[in-house]
Amino acid sequence: MADLVVNNDLEDLRASLLKAVAGAPDLAALDLARVEAVGKRGEITQRMKTLGSLDPDARRAAGQALNVLKTEIEAAIVARQTDLARAERAARLAAERIDVTLPVRPDAEGHIHPISQTMEELIQIFAEMGFTVAEGPEIESDFNNFTALNIPPEHPARQMHDTFYLSPTTDGPARVLRTHTSPVQVRTMLNSKPPIRIIAPGRTYRSDYDMTHTPMFHQVEGLVIDESAHMGHLRGCLTEFLRAFFQIDDLPLRFRPSFFPFTEPSAEVDIGCSRKGGQLKLGNFGDWLEILGCGMVHPKVLEICGIDSTKYQGFAFGMGIERIAMLKYGIPDLRTFFDADLRWLRHYGFSFLDQPSLGLGLTR
Ligand code: DAH
Repeated sequence: MADLVVNNDLEDLRASLLKAVAGAPDLAALDLARVEAVGKRGEITQRMKTLGSLDPDARRAAGQALNVLKTEIEAAIVARQTDLARAERAARLAAERIDVTLPVRPDAEGHIHPISQTMEELIQIFAEMGFTVAEGPEIESDFNNFTALNIPPEHPARQMHDTFYLSPTTDGPARVLRTHTSPVQVRTMLNSKPPIRIIAPGRTYRSDYDMTHTPMFHQVEGLVIDESAHMGHLRGCLTEFLRAFFQIDDLPLRFRPSFFPFTEPSAEVDIGCSRKGGQLKLGNFGDWLEILGCGMVHPKVLEICGIDSTKYQGFAFGMGIERIAMLKYGIPDLRTFFDADLRWLRHYGFSFLDQPSLGLGLTR
């Protein structure tokens, strides 16, 4: 009689547990059904706990029946689990499906800023010539920004830089927002041995704001140090770069004597242009436009940076990135670079598809 009750009861339980398992809509619901069936306080577990109160024969029979049921339910759970997992993966695959044969969308929002594009372009060209890219921090020591470049305290050249100074510290002169990328020359020479061939593009800061000046702007520095680099190499290197960058094969260069404390001799470089009809055009047209500063690295700078100036020599150059970007892309106003005006960026910006490449548009 007791067996019968147990069996009837088990039959109902079996039906309801199997129904719960089969009907679980997802893995989370299935886990709930599992806990309710065979968890610590689950239906089957509860019943197993009552076995002790039965007499031995009844206990054995009921125990066996419960074990059979437990095994069956557990198998049903595993089967349902497999089905649900498969269905969930199929749904996910369907939802995440992408058609890799679709063309990319060149009209996608977002543009590469002309400064970024110009930096990529010049890195490409210099990389081709064997230069690597060096970097330095925008907050610089007075020593790296000035003193090591042969601009000691009280030197008049410091005044020309309209320097942003940080709050003074106890351990020496106030640090500065670097006024040029030249301190990367210093860092490179202090941290590596010749031969050196680097460019250092990056942000620079001067307290100045008008049509042609913004407090933050970009420069690219170049430095070559070995045992024999000379002015001729400098000239060849800059000629190669400027012709490749502006994509003008016969772009003439003119070297004018100049002065920088960190180079001797120093020169400013002009490129050929025309200003006919108020229109600026680059090329071999007889007129000249100043574009960069350069020279042979001053022996004093080499020595300060731990390089034997009787054995090594080299050249350096520095130019404004906004300036060459404006010239190449016909951007009339410097300040617009940093207005964050979306219409301007859509007009002058570049698609992410415009990867600078030396293979394109360059005739040699
Ligand atoms: N640092 C200079 C400036 O900001 C530019 C410059 C001139 C860099 C001559 C050089 C150089 O490396 O040789 O005006």
